[in-house]
Amino acid sequence: MKKDITNRDDLYLLVSQFYKKLMVDKDVQHFFHKFNDPKTLEHHLQVLVDFWDNIIFYSGTYQKNAMQPHIKLNEEMPFNQNHFKVWLNHFHQTIDELFLGNNAEVAKNRATSIATVMQLKILPKT
Ligand code: HEM
Repeated sequence: MKKDITNRDDLYLLVSQFYKKLMVDKDVQHFFHKFNDPKTLEHHLQVLVDFWDNIIFYSGTYQKNAMQPHIKLNEEMPFNQNHFKVWLNHFHQTIDELFLGNNAEVAKNRATSIATVMQLKILPKT
């Protein structure tokens, strides 16, 4: 039986499984090369746990602007619409494989809306 996302261990499982998918996906893996170093990856996963902990449980654990590193990244490695589609598909799929419940839905909905705003800010206007 699948359960809902209820704590930081659940979030760690989510982000670590999610990154396993991103890091072998040929469409987006070039963004994630620096996480082939296990220490760099571990630190980043903890930041992501803080980020999602803050969104789902209002923990106050993430107070930075998550948009900023992506704006900078886009200057070096341009993002396109397909990158966002692939990123979101893996995120939604990882959640559906592992969890079921209200918090799981909240996480998917928030990821979709943040990705929408990120695209509006980052992608070139057509
Ligand atoms: C095409 C889609 C995306 C790609 C390729 C991508 C890639 C990355 C990469 C490479 C980093 C590390 C940046 C660094 O260390 O300088 C990062 C950080 C991060 N990403 Fe994304 N990202 C994407 C979309 C998203 C979305 C939609 C969200 C939120 C729902 C998100 C949340 C975060 C957060 C919270 C961090 C950590 C920022 C920090 O260090 O404070 N990303 N992303």
